[in-house]
Amino acid sequence: VLPVQIIAQKRDGCELTEESIFTFVRGYAENQIPDYQMAAFAMAVYFNGMTSSETAALTQAMLDSGDRLRWPDDGIPRVDKHSTGGIGDKISLPLVPLLAVCGVQVPMLSGRGLGPTGGTLDKLESIAGFRTDLSLQEIQRVVPKIGCVITGASADLAPADRRLYALRDVTATVPSILLITASIMSKKLAESPDALVLDVKFGSGAFMKTREQARELAISLVKTGERMGVTTTALLTSMNQPLGRMCGNAIEVEESLDVLQGQGPDDVRQLTIELAAELLITVGAFSEHAQAVQVLDRKLSDGSAMERFEMMVKAQGGDLAQERAIAPAAEVTARHEGVVSAIDVEAIGYTIIAMGGGRRNLADSIDHSVGIEMLVSIGDTVDAGQPLVRLFTRDPEPFADRLRESITLSDQANSQVLIVERIIGELT
Ligand code: URA
Repeated sequence: VLPVQIIAQKRDGCELTEESIFTFVRGYAENQIPDYQMAAFAMAVYFNGMTSSETAALTQAMLDSGDRLRWPDDGIPRVDKHSTGGIGDKISLPLVPLLAVCGVQVPMLSGRGLGPTGGTLDKLESIAGFRTDLSLQEIQRVVPKIGCVITGASADLAPADRRLYALRDVTATVPSILLITASIMSKKLAESPDALVLDVKFGSGAFMKTREQARELAISLVKTGERMGVTTTALLTSMNQPLGRMCGNAIEVEESLDVLQGQGPDDVRQLTIELAAELLITVGAFSEHAQAVQVLDRKLSDGSAMERFEMMVKAQGGDLAQERAIAPAAEVTARHEGVVSAIDVEAIGYTIIAMGGGRRNLADSIDHSVGIEMLVSIGDTVDAGQPLVRLFTRDPEPFADRLRESITLSDQANSQVLIVERIIGELT
């Protein structure tokens, strides 16, 4: 079958065989199929979709295009979490060491900021010396010793996805739930995990603006994980306001350290514990949710998760004791009284980028010292003149009005729920 025939079948809405998908992706990975044919294929998928078995085949083919992590057959569960991205989403920092002190291992391959959302690797790089470029060999050495790493995905993992993602970015084919599924899952499955949990976000600061879209993505991710033999669950969580108070890089590390010491904002602590409980119940470390929550809560409060985080930072070359620079603070105040009824979270993300805390271009370097602290949440009543946000930047003036406008003050507000639904598959 010629590549053009495979594209034509998808264009006409036919279901492709596993073999056709494998041949096509292998040809692309080996540079026998050019970008323009892959772009046409991606557009055909965008319009005509794929069945669950086609999505699983595409995921497997992209996974097979590269290497994967290999673990000894020692009975220790390897687990991971993936978030679809948000503002103030620092959950990986407390979650990974917390899981490691509960007897599972976490080889987390994480990413950088995408669109308005922040990236875990960028946040961690505010720690002096912290390396996010561990080789596969280093990951396989550190994880059994420390129990966890958080590092970037090397070029050897799912290289077909790396190329396809860059191509989708310039051919308007990123927002396809099925292509997103294959992209995310091919990278996560390259970690050879036993269980995965997905934090699928919806709302003004998420890629999926509505709960329905997020639900569709979560179901697609869970189904694909399970088809590939990995127990996968998902939580649908709201990104209608930033997670926690701190949004940026160095300031998010500071907030994560608070959570690792049993403090920090309730929403960050709650989501960390709930995502950890999902994984620990999935691998059989706990049978009861309430018991898992109690133990996880204790391990945040008694310093054991913090101690493991310090070990992980040291193993990755970082020096937590070296003070992280934070830019000077300035407050933005309310012009009139009211109840906070909506927050344009995406605008907050783009403001951080404009302040230098994210990249406009791939080659940009990041100013880790800038950020925004949220001083109000949806439902809070504020007086005229009351501070709404605190900016950390040397030059607050250009951003103050934009931030003030991103917070809507009305007569009343709907109450907010952080975790709205749990999506499980047949293996759970
Ligand atoms: N993140 C990914 O890794 N892939 C996508 O397609 C979208 C978000």
